[in-house]
Amino acid sequence: MTLKISVIGTGYLGATHAACMSSLGFEVIGIDIDAAKIASLSSGTIPFYEPGLQELLQSELKTGRLSFSTDFTAIKDCDVHFICVGTPQVKDGLAADLTYVFASLAAIAPIIKDGSLVVGKSTVPVGTAAKLREQLLAINTNTDLAWNPEFLREGFAVEDTLHPTRLVVGVTNTRAEEILREVYANNLAAQTPWISADLPTSELVKVSANAFLATKISFINAMAEICEAAGGDVTVLAKAIGYDPRIGHRFLQAGIGFGGGCLPKDIRAFMARSEELGAEQALEFLREIDSINTRARTRMIDLVRADLSADLVGKKIAVLGAAFKPDSDDVRDSPALDIAVQIQAAGALVTVHDPKAIANARNRFPALGFSESIEECVAGADLVLHLTEWKVYREIDPAELIKLVAQPKVIDGRNALDRDKWRAAGWDFRALGRSNA
Ligand code: UDX
Repeated sequence: MTLKISVIGTGYLGATHAACMSSLGFEVIGIDIDAAKIASLSSGTIPFYEPGLQELLQSELKTGRLSFSTDFTAIKDCDVHFICVGTPQVKDGLAADLTYVFASLAAIAPIIKDGSLVVGKSTVPVGTAAKLREQLLAINTNTDLAWNPEFLREGFAVEDTLHPTRLVVGVTNTRAEEILREVYANNLAAQTPWISADLPTSELVKVSANAFLATKISFINAMAEICEAAGGDVTVLAKAIGYDPRIGHRFLQAGIGFGGGCLPKDIRAFMARSEELGAEQALEFLREIDSINTRARTRMIDLVRADLSADLVGKKIAVLGAAFKPDSDDVRDSPALDIAVQIQAAGALVTVHDPKAIANARNRFPALGFSESIEECVAGADLVLHLTEWKVYREIDPAELIKLVAQPKVIDGRNALDRDKWRAAGWDFRALGRSNA
């Protein structure tokens, strides 16, 4: 008999997981306490931008396998319950806020049927899964809890969920693993690497993967600082070191650094947890990774002042990009928006463009200027900043754009524009980490 699945928490992770599990043929019910979110998903609309997800949601709703509800009792017949709620940074420290994870377990534990398996997917500090399992078994000894971290990237959420690079399951017994093998039978048939681990290791895999990615980005941004000081070019350096297969080219894009809802909060929660474990020295370097990352934003503002004027009052600055990365409307801890806000606070007249994230950006920073068109955004600008590497910005014809600005000055904060082309069109082109000779 096909497994029935519930997904608790229908944010980015949960909505994607629910639609993808349904597309594999499972009957899926998504649960959330947010009635507006549930109404939106039930009508086939995702409340955020993610390529391909809306289409998948709509086609799965039509099959009748996928439904959404705010009523927790709707999950009582399900065999597997995925916990996909958020774990944001606490307001008064670096640690992760686990309120939603513990609240969702408390809500489902008295309802779920004997023999069912709870599977945590949220990113949590190591040790959380064991605590949750203990609490679950105290309420119903005939259930079990496993951990199965997700590695999905925004912009590739459907692809990453359906075709993950690896599947990691934290289990305490073989029965839990067998159930998870049934859930992921398709991936196993496609030879996706399967890693069976204990609960703490499975939790650590996720945070250490994100810590490694953050380290790679901050490493190249540190090299960018050195290149600036020594007159080198970080883009050439990254290309050259990346050919070593032990290093690789990915995540070596120097610029204004990482943001979003995962990397910054995950490395901070990891540091906080290491302190609790008495192993803070091991992750001391992550403090440096974090500060290189925030310094990249400051360096960008320094470059704006050096390029334009120390006094930014009244200067018209066009900002291309608000999302924390392309193909996303997510502005959480966005380096682009952070820079836009800081230069506006310094007196500049800032207009921001983004293909998808303007509504979210405006909600967060209503005092910034926004524009729906690139042409309108740059009209009369003293300086253009390229801060999120959307494809539409790479496709700009610099020879046309130059006709609209007051001064032909551009700074590429993502090292993604074609410098030679922009210079040939008459632009004064600068970028982080590149010699401007
Ligand atoms: C990340 C992890 O990649 C994913 O595996 C995990 O599940 C969640 O966190 P995501 O937050 O979607 O995913 O974004 P990611 O693609 O990792 O980019 C994070 C940030 O790093 C972005 O702001 C991006 O612009 C920046 N970045 C990325 C760089 O500055 N340089 C790079 O070379 C790569």
